[in-house]
Amino acid sequence: MKRSNILFIDDQQSARDLFLRLLDPHKYKPIVASGVAAAEEYLRHETADVVVTDLRMPDIDGLEGLERLHATDPDLPVVLITAFGTVETAVEAMKRGAFDYLRKPFDPAELEIVIDRAIAHRQLLRENQRLRSEVARHAGPEDIICAAPAMTAVMDLIARVAPSDFSVLMLGESGTGKDVFAQRIHQLSGRAKQSFVSINCSAIPEHLLESELFGHEKGAFSGANQAREGFFAEADGGTLFLDEIGDMSLALQPKLLRVLQNGEYYRVGSRRLAKTDVRLVCASNRAIEDLVEHGQFRQDLYYRINTVRIDLPPLRQRTEDVPALVAHFLQRLAAHHPRVPRSVSPAAMALLLEYAWPGNVRELEHVIERASLVCDGDEITPQSLPRELRGAGNAGFASAAHVEKPYKDARRDFDHSYFVHLLDRAGNNVQKAADLAGVHRSTLYEKLAALGVPYDHDGAPLAK
Ligand SMILES: Nc1ncnc2c1ncn2[C@@H]1O[C@H](COP(=O)(O)OP(=O)(O)OP(=O)(O)O)[C@@H](O)[C@H]1O
Ligand SMILES: [Mg+2]
Repeated sequence: MKRSNILFIDDQQSARDLFLRLLDPHKYKPIVASGVAAAEEYLRHETADVVVTDLRMPDIDGLEGLERLHATDPDLPVVLITAFGTVETAVEAMKRGAFDYLRKPFDPAELEIVIDRAIAHRQLLRENQRLRSEVARHAGPEDIICAAPAMTAVMDLIARVAPSDFSVLMLGESGTGKDVFAQRIHQLSGRAKQSFVSINCSAIPEHLLESELFGHEKGAFSGANQAREGFFAEADGGTLFLDEIGDMSLALQPKLLRVLQNGEYYRVGSRRLAKTDVRLVCASNRAIEDLVEHGQFRQDLYYRINTVRIDLPPLRQRTEDVPALVAHFLQRLAAHHPRVPRSVSPAAMALLLEYAWPGNVRELEHVIERASLVCDGDEITPQSLPRELRGAGNAGFASAAHVEKPYKDARRDFDHSYFVHLLDRAGNNVQKAADLAGVHRSTLYEKLAALGVPYDHDGAPLAK
């Protein structure tokens, strides 16, 4: 059985010696430190399963010490030893996340019970985390919405390539779902039970990316206090998702190419060849061809990562997805909040359909979340939508979304939106709407019917 590391902090040599004698050496590996700073130093390189410390910490105030220990590892159980008179502080420390406290004098059996509980607690936390990521990995297909024909084609392609080991390059504007689809490829592949490791190449400083990907030896560079396995090792047998691949430096690109060609790489600072088996999925919101053309991305690497290419269309080119996504987001919100509007008024939906969505699905998600917070009725209305959406109609209606469509369709969109707003304004009274628009009521009825805009019959006979 593996022994648990128990770190004990006390400034007195006699207390530390006592502690070393107190613990059963077959079950525990005691480690002693003379103060919080020394303990922090230890925790930077090694792990402890439980920390036991006197509340009267030698170098600093006990509560601050607790905070600093948790900064090295938030899940680390800390057991405090209190003397007469410090019990109140111990209670305060429990409120701030200490695991338990022992009152002096305590007997060895008591210490062992508390330590064992702390170890069990930590194992449960770990198990919980593992299960959570497992659940996230197997999240059902119902989480991805695709109603537009363009997206059905994408989903079909994904289902076909997922089981292979082909590299997939996903291109799409920000918020189009590149992360979501990369995960789906992993879930549908034979690697689903192995890890899915995701790295954003633009979020990691250039000089660190190499050691993050390939790992490094201890002392490979200043600050490398400890050897580290890289993401390629972590993703071994699974899928590695390199997001914003276009931002990878030219210096690093040949190293990536090599590992993709033969699965071999060197850890930074090591001469020993390491091997890995990963399936690569890359994403970028920039056209990589342009980078290749301008010499910012290696052509050979581009061919290598681009075995299968998936273009995720921007939301404005798949407006059929908007109502389905809205329904999905509302349903998800309703699961967590009791008072969430259940639907979207036709006028608000018209605004959602005509907006250009530069931030794509992510922006729609935020808009719906915000609208359901500010809206106090059962329905999201134009008033609960942000100004940029409401402004679209006033600021010269044609938006980027419209010029992507044939004139006939854009005009129909306009008519739809115009009459929906008109009816809203007229309080659903068709006669009043007709007056406002300066058209005959029969003409208005025809228009509404042709466009499929719902209206209330006001009962007045139609004058022919
Ligand atoms: N088809 C979809 N169905 C349901 N939710 C989606 C869909 N596409 C995207 N989303 C949601 O939209 C948000 C943005 O998606 P994601 O992070 O995958 O986009 P991205 O293309 O990776 O964006 P970025 O380029 O900014 O990294 C996420 O919250 C995601 O859950
Ligand atoms: Mg992303």
